[in-house]
Amino acid sequence: MAVDLFEKKSKSWDMKSNRVQNAKSIAELIIENIDLKKEMKLMDFGAGTGLLSYFIAPHVDTIVAVDNSPSMLEKFREKSSEFACKTEVLEVDLSTTDIEHNFDGIISSMTIHHLQETKKLFERFYDMLEVDGFIAIADLDSEDGSFHSDNRGVFHFGFEREALEDIAKEVGFKNISFRLANEINKPYNNFTVFLLLAQK
Ligand SMILES: C[S@@+](CC[C@H](N)C(=O)[O-])C[C@H]1O[C@@H](n2cnc3c(N)ncnc32)[C@H](O)[C@@H]1O
Repeated sequence: MAVDLFEKKSKSWDMKSNRVQNAKSIAELIIENIDLKKEMKLMDFGAGTGLLSYFIAPHVDTIVAVDNSPSMLEKFREKSSEFACKTEVLEVDLSTTDIEHNFDGIISSMTIHHLQETKKLFERFYDMLEVDGFIAIADLDSEDGSFHSDNRGVFHFGFEREALEDIAKEVGFKNISFRLANEINKPYNNFTVFLLLAQK
């Protein structure tokens, strides 16, 4: 059975105010930049306990939470009655598995650094999107490896925006742009979070 790297963290995940604030900032930027519609079905990739989904929910019809951590998804399920849209939960490892769903958009917060093959992941995103569907992916800008106290399961110390843009282009995405979504200040270092927006 696959190891749940988030088993310990899941219990107190939502108790860190900087995590909630980070998800809120990302959600606000998505809402500002994307014409979300009440009939849309979105995937929250690496939804975890649902921090990002929660803030996006009032603007769409359905959010499908995709994550490979049973413990994080258990927390998502516990909260699902509080989300202001329909929700579905899929326990899937997207680094190895395709899912037969089509989405109007894919949102994601602080997850893609956990997958080794970014291009393969973006190809999967592209295939799962409706024509003109969007991605809104937030993650860390390049960092020195000190963001996580434990780097197990961390395949990228953030991303160079240009390199990510090249990957998105190669896969076929258009209208690619980046925004600064948040700054996370830790006692020993400051980190920035980007939001990558693109369209199929
Ligand atoms: C840092 S957490 C972010 C959770 C949430 N998006 C948030 O901002 O609070 C990363 C999440 O990605 C999930 N994840 C990591 N690798 C994954 C994979 N290969 N497939 C699906 N989910 C994955 C983890 O289980 C975890 O819930």
